[in-house]
Amino acid sequence: MNYTKILGTGSYLPERVMLNSELEAMVDTSDEWIQARTGIKERHIAREDETTCDMCEQAALNAIQAADIDPSEIDLIVLATSTPDLIYPSTACLLQARLGVSNTCAAFDVQAACSGFVYAFSIAEKFIQSGSVKKALVVGADANSKILDWTDRGTCVLFGDGAGAIILEASDEPGVYATRLHADGSHAHLLQVPSGVSKPTGDPFIRMSGNEVFKFAVNAMGSIVDETLQECGLSKSDIDWLVPHQANQRIIKATARKLGVTMDKVILTVAEHGNTSGGSIPLALDTGIRDGRIKRGDKLFLEAVGSGFTWGSIVLKY
Ligand code: ACO
Repeated sequence: MNYTKILGTGSYLPERVMLNSELEAMVDTSDEWIQARTGIKERHIAREDETTCDMCEQAALNAIQAADIDPSEIDLIVLATSTPDLIYPSTACLLQARLGVSNTCAAFDVQAACSGFVYAFSIAEKFIQSGSVKKALVVGADANSKILDWTDRGTCVLFGDGAGAIILEASDEPGVYATRLHADGSHAHLLQVPSGVSKPTGDPFIRMSGNEVFKFAVNAMGSIVDETLQECGLSKSDIDWLVPHQANQRIIKATARKLGVTMDKVILTVAEHGNTSGGSIPLALDTGIRDGRIKRGDKLFLEAVGSGFTWGSIVLKY
């Protein structure tokens, strides 16, 4: 049996920090409303010339350094984003060239919005489990600021930009205990960027029925706790850290309650990062590992819900 272990993590946030007070000047909102309803205090915003691949490159280099490997050892790159630099080639291919490992491994993007990192991680884990890959680079990143309508208070206060990356490696012992992935396309209209390539509608911004997404997210995250733990035969008390997608502190609190962990056992970055979509879980993971809270041997519960709807979870030993 090939298990999958995290060898190293890295992350990157754009330099510019946007406070809630700046948004007060742009739309009819308040710092008080944003903090009370979401937990967000600030978010990072990419420069106009800064792309998703730029952020991925920095996060990946950090992860490669933490894992203490040479980029040439990477057998697979899976990159989760909904804001690729180009339609094609994939951002994963652009990143591969930046890392100087062209033509040494397969590289592709995964698009599952805010669940993208859980999807990408799970796919890479299957490659490792099958024995065809020894080391994989998994990246999650989004430049949400590029697809925000800065006049829509229902969305522009929620999102930020950022990237996170991990190096996964085959191992004789866990590692990953369980991965669960779900999708239900019948809810597509509740959270979408309506304009596409083959269907250009002229509206290239995030549109969301926030309250309905909220209710779905709380339910989906609640039910995935039980099914994931059941799959790997662990109980709630085995989990040391919840590392959730960082969309809304209230959704995270509900999930923590369901998992039976207190908030001091949750890696929370939503206040400083906002919702960075594909970047949010690896950013939180890297934060918890680098500040010393998450230690080798700790058991982690990762979970996310996003447009699609898509949702998923991973239980692993760090
Ligand atoms: N400032 C002030 N008031 C606001 C703002 C704002 N920024 N945004 C909305 N409001 C108002 C609404 O207009 C509404 O006013 P009304 O009562 O007069 O109509 C009121 O606040 C309440 O609106 P709700 O949408 O019911 O507020 P809610 O408590 O649900 O919070 C929020 C809204 C924060 C968007 C929440 O619904 C949420 O977090 N939803 C989930 C988002 C999410 O998880 N996304 C995940 C995936 S993202 C991805 O996949 C890309």
